[in-house]
Amino acid sequence: MITKIIGTGSCLPSHVVSNDDLSKIMDTSDEWISSRTGIRERHLAKEETTAFMASESAKRALKDAGVDAKEIDLIIVGTITGDYVTPSTACEVQAQLGADKAVAFDVNAACSGFMFGLHTAHMYLQSGIYKTALIIGAETLSKIMDWNDRSTCVLFGDGAGAVVIRSYTDEEANENGMGGTGGLLAFSQGSDGAKGIVLACRDRVNNNPLISNPIEQGYLSMDGQEVYKFAVSTVPASIHEALSLSGLKAEDIKYFVLHQANVRIIQSVAKRLKVSEDRFPVNLDHCGNISAASVPILLDEMNQKGMLSRGDKIVMSGFGAGLTWGTTVIEW
Ligand code: ACO
Repeated sequence: MITKIIGTGSCLPSHVVSNDDLSKIMDTSDEWISSRTGIRERHLAKEETTAFMASESAKRALKDAGVDAKEIDLIIVGTITGDYVTPSTACEVQAQLGADKAVAFDVNAACSGFMFGLHTAHMYLQSGIYKTALIIGAETLSKIMDWNDRSTCVLFGDGAGAVVIRSYTDEEANENGMGGTGGLLAFSQGSDGAKGIVLACRDRVNNNPLISNPIEQGYLSMDGQEVYKFAVSTVPASIHEALSLSGLKAEDIKYFVLHQANVRIIQSVAKRLKVSEDRFPVNLDHCGNISAASVPILLDEMNQKGMLSRGDKIVMSGFGAGLTWGTTVIEW
């Protein structure tokens, strides 16, 4: 049995905000932001909601896959910025798509949310419980930013990306010209809750009258240097582990599709893996960091540009708050 990505889609809000635009409303500059992060502009939601962007990206992925919403068995959305605490964004997507048959739920793993969703769905497919799944990363990070904190708010953007995955028996794979191998080859994932505070966002106001000091709603806070250290050590280790499980080596991999946090993290991971930076596609220059949506949006951009050919080996890796990390090796 193999699990194959058979379609991709993405949706970005229409409103684009450049570094120069930000420098008009806060004490920052294009030079500071772009030299430290590689980010030049980001899309920020004005009208678009998390569920809207998730649903649009899903519709595009379904169209790309040639799959009807009624065929979807499972919808998982990686998000930390759903429009409601409940219902989940995945249930909202189910309703908007009319995917009546699907079971739908969200995963809260920040920038690893799409990867954790993909791995969870893969196990459902491999066990034979479900055949076709929609995995989405969707975020409206602009609503959890402290817009008075220039050290965080300049880094993030809004958007959504989606993939459709389907399981094939060896026989079905042969009939579809895929051979008996390929698809999702191996994955590695992990969490370190003890370090959670270095990248955190507190929940909403607690108005419980029994509490004398109510906890106020928080915004995203980050110890940038600790996050940097975590990322540049954990991501190469996670990639090494996933590659070893797949029986492949770094030189076999055509592209490393990493969470788009910061270009310096990507450069450092490339160096540690002894792989040319050319094999690390980047879209953070025009998207910024979109947490769980980063990897599927970048994958969709690559797919739309025709960069992916059947048989290509690709690594996808997400890492972030929790702390959490997840890496997948796939054959396209
Ligand atoms: N514009 C201008 N100046 C700024 C800005 C800004 N937007 N933000 C901070 N500064 C100033 C600070 O006030 C400070 O000034 P001071 O020296 O007078 O006190 C100076 O710049 C340096 O601030 P630092 O926070 O020390 O900046 P640093 O060099 O560490 O860079 C950065 C910050 C880019 C976030 C860096 O820590 C980093 O690359 N971290 C990796 C983590 C990351 O990328 N996180 C993204 C989200 S997390 C994730 O997705 C996994």
